[in-house]
Amino acid sequence: MCGIVGAVAQRDINEILLKGLRRLEYRGYDSSGLAVVDKYGHLKLLRRVGKVSVLIDAAQQYDLTGNIGIAHTRWATHGKPTENNAHPHVSGHIVVVHNGMIENHEPLREKLREHGYTFVTQTDTEVIAHLVHWEQCQHSGAFFEVIQRVVNVLRGAYGIVIMDIRNPGVLAAARSGSSLVIGLGIGENFLASDQLALLPVTRRFIFLEEGDVSEITCCTVRVWNQAGNSVKREEIISQVKYDAIDKGLYRHYMQKEIFEQPQAIKNTIAGRVNHGEVILSELGFGADALLLQVQHVQIIACGSSYHSAMVARYWFEAMAEVSCDVEIASEFRYRKPTMRPGSLFITVSQSGETADTLSALRLSKAIGYHSSLTICNVESSSLVRESDMALMTRSGAEISVASTKSFTAQLTVLLMLVAHIGRLRGRCKRIEESIVHALQTLPSSIEQVLSLDQLIKTVAEEFLDKKHALFLGRGDLYPIAMEAALKLKEISYIHAEAYAAGEMKHGPLALIDAHMPVIVIAPNNQLLEKLKSNIEEVKVRGGLLYIFTEKDTVFTASKNMKIIRLTQVEQIVAPIFYAVSMQLLAYHVSLIKGTNVDHPRNLAKAVTVE
Ligand code: M6R
Repeated sequence: MCGIVGAVAQRDINEILLKGLRRLEYRGYDSSGLAVVDKYGHLKLLRRVGKVSVLIDAAQQYDLTGNIGIAHTRWATHGKPTENNAHPHVSGHIVVVHNGMIENHEPLREKLREHGYTFVTQTDTEVIAHLVHWEQCQHSGAFFEVIQRVVNVLRGAYGIVIMDIRNPGVLAAARSGSSLVIGLGIGENFLASDQLALLPVTRRFIFLEEGDVSEITCCTVRVWNQAGNSVKREEIISQVKYDAIDKGLYRHYMQKEIFEQPQAIKNTIAGRVNHGEVILSELGFGADALLLQVQHVQIIACGSSYHSAMVARYWFEAMAEVSCDVEIASEFRYRKPTMRPGSLFITVSQSGETADTLSALRLSKAIGYHSSLTICNVESSSLVRESDMALMTRSGAEISVASTKSFTAQLTVLLMLVAHIGRLRGRCKRIEESIVHALQTLPSSIEQVLSLDQLIKTVAEEFLDKKHALFLGRGDLYPIAMEAALKLKEISYIHAEAYAAGEMKHGPLALIDAHMPVIVIAPNNQLLEKLKSNIEEVKVRGGLLYIFTEKDTVFTASKNMKIIRLTQVEQIVAPIFYAVSMQLLAYHVSLIKGTNVDHPRNLAKAVTVE
């Protein structure tokens, strides 16, 4: 998604802006630009389509020095990715960068046309630039008051940073539905959509809250809340690693993040499991009393996070004996959900900024859910701030668009939560002990999957000319088949579907022939014999089978059937374990096909627009 960097300083800021854009590249974008005001008060604007490196190369040819500026990476929503549509956008003396989407841009555009404004782009953002210009020309008042009037008429999601060429010592910002953070320096201050952009210049941050408007100069920071009152927001010292966006010796972020999983899981369980018990004290005082009243669990998420929630549904019902529904956020928010009494509302999200998930959380409050809990990887995110309780996944910054370590860390946290709620509900102590034991042995089991990297690569080579693939699983491995299909289609562009294996005979069997690879996730559990019958149905129809299973299961390889044997694993954590092998498969297929592993086409890391 789009990225924003802004700076006001006593030194030249153009390097800071360009470096910041580079650090936001991982979010996905298709064009970029920057605007600085030089010491003579002249605006210098540069925009380019394509990589930030194209913008940086172009920047070498101009003098872009200045003490104040804003920069942006754009992921096209309204209007094609062209130089003209790239941000910043200008209206007279006003310069704007924007993340998000303005839903009422059409009526606003009409109104502004009546006021004599001409539109030169197809973007919704140009509306903001003209509105600020119009408001400022019509009414006197401080810059922040102008911005407050403008945001009052905007509908949709936005994080905006605005510069006034006539007043080149101030940056104004506003956020609603799209994150913005202020970076605090000495004699300089910054704005960005993501703290990662500013780590080279500061570790001190203020995270703007929903509805906030702010004004920064090189020496002052002021914030007003939605009601227009001046407020003081807490300053936070970031613990995020500076080199979080460093690939190290790995070829891709995705590869690095796959291989980081044993450590990410160790970090995620550290201090939370002990002597056969799960301890989730960070849920806060009174949380256990709340959780004790829970009669139903509703989980909402998108994409990979939805798949981890799907696995958790099996776990909640089987191990904590509490009913559980799971729904995609974009569906939940637009139907008229009825709330079951005593329902705990859980959101799962890597970024904590996914627009649909955030809206679903807000809806849950409006319709009176018992309490809300988020499982999230970003402590400063909107979901964490707006939920009653939060459990952090500690997988570290995830840069690759394809979720890997955050997915397995989500499952790890969900499993601990199941154990915790199970205990509160008086479920068998042995279940909790087995969960703890399985989680403690999981990192080394995953190490063993990772050691099969080269073997999985040879399997991936057979997918070079494949156009389609089917993934099969049963029980809590069915959502892992869904995740495997998502991973493969997302980064290799091979059309992939997942089926609960028992469903094959209800239609998908018609697809089976010698060209259709069928990847089966076959753990050594109580459903294995059932699964073998489903495999037989594929085999007799000439399907091309790849069975991912464990060391001691009984399968005989035959002409069209390859067996990939992983080590044995505690069955409670089999979904997490098998997910890693599926990530490796997708990664190697993507390499072989030569697609862009970390930045797949048309996708962005955090989906902060609807
Ligand atoms: O940040 P979130 O977990 O809320 O993101 C949800 C999805 O956008 C995300 O999981 C997406 O499906 C991934 N690219 C999948 O690899």
